[in-house]
Amino acid sequence: MSSVEEAIEYLTSKYNFSQKVGIILGSGLDVFNQSILFSIDYREIPNMPLSTVPGHRGRLDVVRVEDTSVIIMRGRYHLYEGYSSKDVVFPIEVLKGLGVDILAITNASGGINEAYVPGDIMLIKDHINLTGENPLVGGPNFVDMKNAYSHRLREQLKEIGKEVGIELKEGVYVGVKGPTYETPAEIRFFRTIGGDAVGMSTVLEVIKARSLGIEVVGISSITNVHKDELSSVTHEEVLEMGKKISKKLEILLKEWIRRGIRR
Ligand code: HPA
Repeated sequence: MSSVEEAIEYLTSKYNFSQKVGIILGSGLDVFNQSILFSIDYREIPNMPLSTVPGHRGRLDVVRVEDTSVIIMRGRYHLYEGYSSKDVVFPIEVLKGLGVDILAITNASGGINEAYVPGDIMLIKDHINLTGENPLVGGPNFVDMKNAYSHRLREQLKEIGKEVGIELKEGVYVGVKGPTYETPAEIRFFRTIGGDAVGMSTVLEVIKARSLGIEVVGISSITNVHKDELSSVTHEEVLEMGKKISKKLEILLKEWIRRGIRR
């Protein structure tokens, strides 16, 4: 049995999973804290990568949203923490094994599009993977990455955004390894190659999800904007803004789930 199969076997033997929708929460983002049906600490899940970072908490929650229950992964693995790309995508494989076929991947990112302001929410329409890693090395090869960020799901969210009065930007996410924030020259480069926001997660998880046939929507909270050479970024600012954006994000996701999402 593979390490992922073992994790899934453990989870499905002990808990009852019937959820088709999963949500991965990014740094500082916190939604659906009410109506938790049950929670599983990542440490309980066999073969889940161990946290190397003090204070890192990981938890899988099954929450009830209106008439649907969804799986929320609170806490993800980043390359900059020293995890391998295989570790980073382990939660995606677990979600797939539990039956998830629609996944909302959220993150915090820095705006590089000059029209963005901190607090914006950007639907990811595409990505540029500059991490230097790919979780599919060793197979499967040649996975199609057109429509990796589902056009169908983006249209649903845009419609909801309009109706509930939450403006949604739509742009290209540049995925980097970190852990440093970007130099001014890097920001200019990312802008030149067509990036709208930059962050240190998501791209590997989306690649893995697509290889497993999961339909993905990517939602980026713009916690800071790289405006000029002197606009510095701090982690505190990112977390603080993440909290504020969580309120909007929850309204959006709740309505999306309430309407049923399904094909
Ligand atoms: N750069 C990279 N990752 C980030 C940023 C940023 O400016 N803000 C939040 N995550």
